[in-house]
Amino acid sequence: MFRSWYATCPRGAEPALEVELHGLGAKGVRPGQGGVRFTGPRAVALRACLDLRTALRVLEPIGEFTANTADELYAGVRGLPWSDLVVEGQTLAVNATGRAEGLTNTHFVEQRIKDSVVDVLREKKGFRPSVDTRAPDVLIVAHLYDGECSLSLDLSGELLSNRGYRARTVEAPLREALAAAVVIYSGWDGTTPLRDPVCGSGTLAIEAALFASRRAPNGERRLSCERWPRTASEDARTLAALREELAARVVQPPPIFASDRDADAVEATRSNARAAKVVLQVSQADARETMPLDPPGQLLLNVPYGDRLEAGGRKQLKTFYHQLGAALRELRGHHAAVLSGSEDFESAFGVRPRGPRRVVWNGPLRCTLYNYAL
Ligand SMILES: C[S@@+](CC[C@H](N)C(=O)[O-])C[C@H]1O[C@@H](n2cnc3c(N)ncnc32)[C@H](O)[C@@H]1O
Repeated sequence: MFRSWYATCPRGAEPALEVELHGLGAKGVRPGQGGVRFTGPRAVALRACLDLRTALRVLEPIGEFTANTADELYAGVRGLPWSDLVVEGQTLAVNATGRAEGLTNTHFVEQRIKDSVVDVLREKKGFRPSVDTRAPDVLIVAHLYDGECSLSLDLSGELLSNRGYRARTVEAPLREALAAAVVIYSGWDGTTPLRDPVCGSGTLAIEAALFASRRAPNGERRLSCERWPRTASEDARTLAALREELAARVVQPPPIFASDRDADAVEATRSNARAAKVVLQVSQADARETMPLDPPGQLLLNVPYGDRLEAGGRKQLKTFYHQLGAALRELRGHHAAVLSGSEDFESAFGVRPRGPRRVVWNGPLRCTLYNYAL
């Protein structure tokens, strides 16, 4: 059955997610803020869960109603077919975003929705599902906007961005889905060598390796919809075929290098790459001494922001950007994509960017992505 779905993503990643959705055969692709709507058979949504790099969640919308007050919210939730969606013995959780005039406390909204679902099931079916916020069988996702509440079920149950490879992080790690969006926006086709000389915990280099090897980032993940009796047997067949197809797609990536001047970052990148089962050549080095790739390839950098810098640190950071620009400018024939959260970066770096600057959000931090042809 053809129906409507919604994939959420970090803010600023919508155009990358749109490209990905077209690539996996979705129809009716319509970007919004923080997500992209699409249509297609259930198999497309399941493929989206396994294969999208930039998505946070893939949602099955179940209803929309007016909700400006707690009473309207409670009544609206009651009107949905919970007896078909939650069976005895299953656990649930609610995740809400957005707000309405009379509904400004997200935690309260989540409680109210949960109470309403539990009341319906107790009255109609005689059981009371328990709440499990860590690994619920059914995750209900609510979004309040402009006096309306839209409710969906999360097909995966856990953020798709939490790939599970990041055992260790150092300073300001990028969320995996955002790192994947940076890889896509860089325009790199995954066939030339790549280097991240300020790798931190290695997220950009690992996402680049997954991209270049054409590995589905969540190919091995168990989805929570595999535990829903109403769809489990059909989904099991579809997912088995999809997993087989995606595993057969994998190719050998080009050499991917990651370095950082910090020894802890180098160790974190090594252990995260091992957990992600990707091969990276990791070393400790200063980014201002970056050597050319052979053949010339792609550089990906998420430069230090200096948001915790003491007085005087800002000047130091500008000097670092300037020296980095001078070093990278020497790497003729290379491309570079640099993500920065600092307003000082562009002029201090001193190289003219090519194409549009893109704004993306690393959580609450507004960042700009610059592309360079060196
Ligand atoms: C914003 S973090 C990168 C975070 C990374 N993208 C992640 O997801 O974990 C910036 C990194 O630059 C490193 N760094 C700062 N100055 C450097 C230099 N001169 N050479 C190499 N690395 C440097 C820091 O140690 C830090 O790990």
